[in-house]
Amino acid sequence: MKKDLLTINDLSTSEIKEILDLAKELKQNRYNSGEALNGKTVGLIFEKPSNRTRVSFEVGITELGGHAIYLGSYEIDLGKRESPKDVARVLSRYLAGIVARTFSHKTVVELAKYSSIPVINGLTDYQHPCQALSDLFTIKEKKGLSNITVAFIGDGNNVLNSLLYICHRMGIKINASCPRGYEPDKETLKEVAGSAAIFNSPSDAVKGADVVYTDVWTSMGQEKEYRKRLKAFKKYQVNSELMKLANKDAIVMHCLPAHRGQEITDEIIDGESSVVLDQAENRLHVQKAILVKLLK
Ligand code: CP
Ligand code: NVA
Repeated sequence: MKKDLLTINDLSTSEIKEILDLAKELKQNRYNSGEALNGKTVGLIFEKPSNRTRVSFEVGITELGGHAIYLGSYEIDLGKRESPKDVARVLSRYLAGIVARTFSHKTVVELAKYSSIPVINGLTDYQHPCQALSDLFTIKEKKGLSNITVAFIGDGNNVLNSLLYICHRMGIKINASCPRGYEPDKETLKEVAGSAAIFNSPSDAVKGADVVYTDVWTSMGQEKEYRKRLKAFKKYQVNSELMKLANKDAIVMHCLPAHRGQEITDEIIDGESSVVLDQAENRLHVQKAILVKLLK
C-alpha cells in the first residue's frame, strides 16, 4: 500500500521518530547514503516558486541514486491543461513518487487520491510538513526535545499549522502570537489543544521560549493582501527587543525566504542565535529520510 505525506497527521509518532533517526544517519554519511532510489524517478510538480524545497529534493534524490524531473507550472498547468486526476493517473505509470507544491491543499489531496505512487506535500496553503519535520530535527540537534517551549510570532499560516501539529504530537509546548483575525483556524486549534496557546502579544508568547520562530507576513498566493498585512503585522517583528524576553540561549528560526525588516531584523537573522542556515540544510537530510521511508 502506498503512503502519502500530505499533512503531519499522515505520520504516527513512531514514524516521525524513525524519520528523525534516519535523517541523522543520512546527515552523518551524506555522500554514502545508499542507493535507495536507484533507477527510480521522482516528479516535482510546482505551481509556486521555490529555492530550498526544489533544490533540496532534487539534490536528495540524486544523492540517493534516483533522478528528479522538475515540472513547473508551464509544463503541467494543473487544473487548466489537465485535471489533477489525469495528471496523477498518468504520472503513476512513469514515476516512483511525486513531490507537489500547490496553491490549494485540495489539489495535493486530489493528486494523492488518484495516484498509485506516494505523494509528498512540498507546501500548500494549509501545511508544509517537510518543513516542520526538518524544523523538529533542527530543534533536536540544537536543544534536544525535552522541556522545550517554541514561540511562533506572525501569521497563522501553513508553516505554523504544521508546527502546531508536530509539536502537539511530540509533546512540545508552542506559544503562537498572531494579530487578531490571523490566528490558525479553530479546528486546528481544537486538535492541538493542550500543547498550543495563542497570545495576542508577542512579548507574552516569547517569555520562557527556547525557540523563537517566524515566517513571512504575506505567503505565496496572498500578494493582493500585502499592504493590509504590512499594517496588521507591524508589531509582530522578531527583533532584539523581543529576543531579550526569551530565554537567554534561545535560538531563532525562520523557514526562509525572509522579508528582512518586516517579520525579522537583519541583526537577529544574521545574529548568533540564528540557526536559519542549518535549518535550510536540514531540509535535505530529513527529506532524504522521508524519500527512503516512502519510496524505497
Ligand atoms: N522554506 C521553503 O520551503 O523555502 P522555498 O519556498 O524556497 O522552497
Ligand atoms: N508561508 C510561506 C512559506 C514559504 C516557505 C508561504 O507559503 O509563502
